[in-house]
Amino acid sequence: LDLAQIKEVYEDDFLIGNAVSMGDLEGPRLDLLNHHHNLVTAENAMKPSYAYGDDGSFDFTGSNELVERVAEEGLLLHGHVLVWHQQSPEWLHSREDGTPLSRDEALDNMQAHIRNAMENYDAVYGDGVISWDVVNEALDGDWSNPEDWRGQLRDSGWLRAIGEDYIYEAFKYAREVADELGREDLVLFYNDYNDDQQSKAIAMYSMIKEINEQYADENPDDTRKLISGVGMQAHYNANTNPENVRLSIERFIELDIEIGVTELDVTTLTPNETIESELERQAYLYASLFQIYDEYSDHISRVTFWGLNDTNSWRSDRSPLLFNDTLTAKQAYYAVVDPEGFL
Ligand code: G3I
Repeated sequence: LDLAQIKEVYEDDFLIGNAVSMGDLEGPRLDLLNHHHNLVTAENAMKPSYAYGDDGSFDFTGSNELVERVAEEGLLLHGHVLVWHQQSPEWLHSREDGTPLSRDEALDNMQAHIRNAMENYDAVYGDGVISWDVVNEALDGDWSNPEDWRGQLRDSGWLRAIGEDYIYEAFKYAREVADELGREDLVLFYNDYNDDQQSKAIAMYSMIKEINEQYADENPDDTRKLISGVGMQAHYNANTNPENVRLSIERFIELDIEIGVTELDVTTLTPNETIESELERQAYLYASLFQIYDEYSDHISRVTFWGLNDTNSWRSDRSPLLFNDTLTAKQAYYAVVDPEGFL
């Protein structure tokens, strides 16, 4: 903990975040979290599947334990996630036999979920919640014609029940709830992965642009953008080309909304790899990324890592983070705090 604090190195640029579970909020893990970060995302606790009791009624008891601890630590919180095809009860949009609910039934369930989750966390932590992933990973096409984002929509329960406008409806409703809560400033994110791949970035860009134009047409008095943040998950690997990341950032800047790096990690190329050359290559990408983030820091509001250390990562077999199994700083850490020195 005598190492330079990442959050201080970048304090004039963007917030530094990490993904947390209960186990990260005590002991040495908490010390490391507080030392380097000022923002967190719940790795799982705030997802829809954790918002209901067995009888299908809202029950935020478990989730709130985590958020209360985050609030005690005074860390800012990014809400993850309201509308997603994973870790979300199927009955919200589908019948037991798998067929979709009617559009109205599914819309009701989606709106009830958005309202209850946003109100609940607002009651627990108020302004500490600075943003939400309203819709996550809605795009998953063949990328043949990425400008036609509708053709690239993921075949999900929400799409089948509600139709292509479920994304617009989700954001519109989240905006309404935020405004009712007096949170006109709350940033509403569309969040997705493979953000470095240009076909995916084009689909994300086209979708956000069109949805924001539709909202502007329908609400001429509201000068805000409906989708006010674009989340680049940034689940990369040591072979990722940083110039593609730059291209995506430049594309998203055209949307004139906040850019968030929301789930950053960089895997080594082979599993269980601890050889120096692999870790060096990983560190090299981290350095290149932070050099780029720094360059565009006027547009980037936060960089969030997806986990504190390799052992606890969802991709632990490819050691993707800045700290190793014993919470010791890897080369990747030194690359992040001093990219120029490293490159
Ligand atoms: O909580 C249960 C536990 O009761 C059970 O015993 C155990 C047995 O498998 O599973 C536990 O649930 C696991 C959950 O994490 C909590 O640990 C799930 O199986 C597991 O699938 C789930 O994985 C999460 C994954 O999202 C699910 O899609 C990862 O932790 C989480 O890092 C990952 O995060 C996602 C983002 O939300 C969205 N973007 C991609 C990112 C990486 O996949």
